[in-house]
Order: sequence, then structure tokens, then C-alpha cells
Amino acid sequence: MLPWFDNNWRPLYLAPMAGVTDSVFRRLCKEQGADVCVTEFVSADGILHRNLRTREMLNFRAEERPVGVQLFGADPKHMADAAKAVIDWVAPDFIDLNFGCPVNKVVCKHGGAALLRDCPLLERVALAVVKAVEPLPVTAKIRLGWSQEMINATTTAMALEQAGISAVAVHGRTREQGYSGVADWQAIARVAETVSIPVVGNGDLRGVDEILLRLRSTRVRGLMIGRAAMTSPWLFRQARRFLDHGEMVPDPSIEERWSHILCHCRMAVAETGTEKHAMAAMRGRLMAYSKGMPGGRSLRAELQQVSSIAQVEAISRRHLAWFNSENVAEEGLVFEGPESFSNSISSAPGRVGEASHFASS
Ligand SMILES: Cc1cc2nc3c(=O)[nH]c(=O)nc-3n(C[C@H](O)[C@H](O)[C@H](O)COP(=O)(O)O)c2cc1C
Repeated sequence: MLPWFDNNWRPLYLAPMAGVTDSVFRRLCKEQGADVCVTEFVSADGILHRNLRTREMLNFRAEERPVGVQLFGADPKHMADAAKAVIDWVAPDFIDLNFGCPVNKVVCKHGGAALLRDCPLLERVALAVVKAVEPLPVTAKIRLGWSQEMINATTTAMALEQAGISAVAVHGRTREQGYSGVADWQAIARVAETVSIPVVGNGDLRGVDEILLRLRSTRVRGLMIGRAAMTSPWLFRQARRFLDHGEMVPDPSIEERWSHILCHCRMAVAETGTEKHAMAAMRGRLMAYSKGMPGGRSLRAELQQVSSIAQVEAISRRHLAWFNSENVAEEGLVFEGPESFSNSISSAPGRVGEASHFASS
């Protein structure tokens, strides 16, 4: 029913991330090789109240397809009506149901991960939406369970399959964990072994090697990449190339990274219309990009204050001049991994001078 699983294809999804996976970022990730995108989650009630901000979050361009709109809410009728309204407004390729959001504001209204504690209601929500929008496919995204004591992803996935859900993405953490600890891929594998609908595995995929490992060692039918895409959106291209042709694509050069970052800034400004506004919103994104760069800590100090594209261009020129003059790459300066700011070059022995040199240059 979902054509991107046909012929044993293993799709790479861009994970929905509120405040991150807007239309501009989805387009950039699609260009890099992401197969399927999902919007940031939107509230069913926001849709029914015709909230303008919610309406804007639904917009996408043709090149983002296949794209799903992710809804959250706990009232079956509201969810079904909202899904129908979404289809009338923007005609997505599928509807995705959020049963994993750990945020208190959502959970206290019984939405997101709260439904993992109420499987009958979760099933009713899923069934109501499936019936309301058929033949359009409906997918769902869940966590392993509410807490370590309440791991129930397998029974939840079975209930979703029963309700007519076409595929389920499983984030290998519990609600209680939030984003801490590590994703439990054995638990994801158990879900993939149990249900017949495609299971998309999600959690801590940061490199081609991990992507291969998870595809080879589990029966997941696709993978979903979240935070690593914020730092290294080219991971999609690298993974796809390896999966299709067995070839390793090297990481982009610093010049290519800056070119990508500036392209993202320009697209964001073009989309928003106001440079100051767009660039203020881009600061978090620039922080994420800088995680993969040498001199990241100094870069972050500069990037978190930008309010124009010209400022980012000037920072990129200084950074490239510093990088090339110090022969940083040849000296084997550590590139930060995507996972942690604390893995900064300034903490590596003998690197403090280089980092601060860039800051003051
Ligand atoms: C900033 C941020 C926003 C997120 N927003 C959503 C969301 O709107 N809907 C959703 O289902 N998951 C959301 N998530 C969870 C991600 O989709 C994903 O499950 C999680 O980050 C684990 O994958 P990763 O280790 O590849 O990042 C969000 C995660 C982050 C970091």
C-alpha cells in the first residue's frame, strides 16, 4: 500500500522534528537522498480551529513528496475530522499519527506517548483515522512504551496493524527516557519480527555503518534519521549510495559544508520573507551544523548571534581562511561527531590555541 516499500526497497525517512523539519529542511534532505518526509507534528485541535500557524506548518512543495502530515491528539473523532481537513487542504501522500511525543504539554492532554498507556484508546484513534481517510494510507510513530516497566511496543504495533495502519515507525526509547540513554534496537527488532506491516526503525542512527548494521541485523523495512540529519544531512546520500552501489561517499569538504549552510540560510530567508526573523530562527540550525566542523566551539559562539546572511558569509570566509592557513585538516584536527557539543576540539589536547585563534581572527 505504501509504494516506497515495494520490491524490497529500504526507504530512508527524515524523522519528524518540531521546529526543525520545516519545508525548507525537508527539501534539502530530499535533495540529499531522503526517500520519505513527515511534517512536524500538528495538533488535531489546531487544525479544527483553523489555527493559522498550524495551517502554515502543513504546507509543502511537490518535490518533498512522498510526504506525510503528522497529527497528534487523543479524541478519535477530532483526529478523524482533522485528517480529512488536512487531505482537503494539502493532499499529503499519507497521514502519520504521533504516539510518541514525550512532552508534558502533549502528554497531559492524553496525546503523543500518553496513548501508549491506553492501548484501547490508541487503537480507536487509529481506526477512526484509517476509516475517515481510506484509501489514503495512515502510518504511526511510537516509542517502546511509557517506561522501562511498561514496554509494550509489540502489542501496540499489533493493535495498530489490526486497526489498518500501513506502517509503524518505532523509536527505540521509552517516554520516560525522553532522548537520554541509547535506543534499544533489540526491542525494535522484536516488533519487526512480530507484525506483518513494515516497521521503520528509529534511534541514534548517525553513520552509514550503523545504518547497515541495523538493516542487516533486524527485519526493519526502513530507517528513520532524526538528529544526525541536522548535523549531517548528506548522511542520506552516503547511506543511499552504499545501499544501492556499495560505494562509500566521503564526508563533504569544509567548503561544501559552508556552501550547504549558506544555501539553507538563503532558502530560509526566501521562505520567511524577513531576513532578521529567518536568521534568528536559523541559529539553532547553525549550532547543529557547527557540531560537525573543526573549531566548532568558537564557531558556535559567533553563529549564535547572527541576524543576516552577510554575517554568516563573513564567518564562513574567516573560518575557511583559518582552516586553510592552519592546515587543520592535514594536521588531523578532530572533526566533531554529531552526537555531542562536549566533543569539542577545544577539549582535545593541544587544540585550545587553534580554536581560540579562529575566534579572534
Ligand atoms: C527537536 C526534536 C523535535 C522532535 N519532534 C518530533 C515530532 O514532531 N514528532 C515526532 O514523532 N517525533 C519528534 N521527535 C523525535 C524524532 O522524530 C526521533 O524519533 C528522535 O529524535 C530519535 O531519532 P534520532 O536518534 O535519529 O534523533 C523530535 C526530536 C527532536 C530532537
